[in-house]
Amino acid sequence: MLNGKKVLLGVSGGIAAYKACALTSKLVQQGADVKVIMTEGATEFVQPLTFQALSRNPVYTDAFDEKNPEKIAHIDLADWSDLIILAPATAHLLGRIANGLADDMLTTTLLAATSPVYVAPAMNVHMYAHPSVKKNLIELEKMGYRFIEPGDGYLACGYVGKGRLEEPERIIEVINNHEKKTEVMKGKKVLITAGPTQEIIDPVRFFTNHSSGKMGYALAQAAKDLGAEVTLISGPVSLAKIAGIRTIDVQSADEMYQAVIKEFPEQDLVIKSAAVADYRPKQTSDQKLKKKDGDLVIELERTQDILATLGKEKTNQYLVGFAAESEQPLTYGKEKLKRKQLDAIVINEIGFQKGFQSDHNEVVFYTKDEEEHRIPYATKKEIAEKLMQLVNRKMTEE
Ligand code: CTP
Repeated sequence: MLNGKKVLLGVSGGIAAYKACALTSKLVQQGADVKVIMTEGATEFVQPLTFQALSRNPVYTDAFDEKNPEKIAHIDLADWSDLIILAPATAHLLGRIANGLADDMLTTTLLAATSPVYVAPAMNVHMYAHPSVKKNLIELEKMGYRFIEPGDGYLACGYVGKGRLEEPERIIEVINNHEKKTEVMKGKKVLITAGPTQEIIDPVRFFTNHSSGKMGYALAQAAKDLGAEVTLISGPVSLAKIAGIRTIDVQSADEMYQAVIKEFPEQDLVIKSAAVADYRPKQTSDQKLKKKDGDLVIELERTQDILATLGKEKTNQYLVGFAAESEQPLTYGKEKLKRKQLDAIVINEIGFQKGFQSDHNEVVFYTKDEEEHRIPYATKKEIAEKLMQLVNRKMTEE
């Protein structure tokens, strides 16, 4: 996978910088074109000349040392790279990039880069366990950075534990596996809807439901990890945006309908995991409704069934619906698949620690040709990964 790839290797100032020399050599042996950027700290451990000799390319250490007046080095390097590896990534480097700093050649280039970044941290065991480092790792993961976790073992500081830079062979294996995975749905356009909708009553009130959007966001991430081009149409949720995924925010069922219909013709796959309101207030008030004696009756009207519309209008798209049921899930789910003319449906029974709000779920994936796959209780991330594999297999069969 790395043959012919343009790899930018960022080396920061830890004792494991010496292992980055072996990594450079192995990457070159795999056929990659490697360019190295070193932080000032890294140059205390290894001479730039070492990396220059191993990579057969100039080594970059200073953002102000512009070697070619026709180019701006950090932009040029960022655009040039197919992928970026940070090895070793020290606690300080993690802190700087998690906070968007651009105070040297490496961090400035990283801000300008759009290619995937693989991070291989290395530090003392207590530093790796420090809440600040953990917080930075979580932030970076949200931004789409991929991690090659440090291994357990003897550390240069004398401790034994987690913090040792993974061996160069293992770093390359993880990257190879990841790059291979992104070929699976490469070129496929995927549309996913997630979250609840809000149906306005007046400027301060609305009808909504318990959907958190977690399942839809996990599906969007899983599709992206397989290399698909993902558009996520999201109702109001409190989840962080996923880096590299085009997200369209909507509020009401009608806004979701408009957005989905607009995007639909371009798509290869549509998964409708959103919990769309079936009814909205017939009238909305511009002013806050004042309370009066007696009961209040709000008349509701039906919203458009987005999924059923797509079922009627679909041409070549593979269409997957969701059915969250509180009773007889399989019977109702299978009936929904037929009624809404779907290719497949994900059926889940709403219950304790499953479905709405929960981080876990347990589903049945059922297809129009009556294949039934039960995915047992697991995290929504794991369920989403399994579902995307199943959906991709069925799409390829068609
Ligand atoms: N859905 C939709 N538009 C709606 C309502 C639902 O696209 N107005 C989609 C959901 O995104 C989901 C599927 O339809 O993929 C199932 O939704 P659900 O509300 O469970 O099904 P209904 O057809 O509304 O059936 P019922 O309310 O009778 O259970």
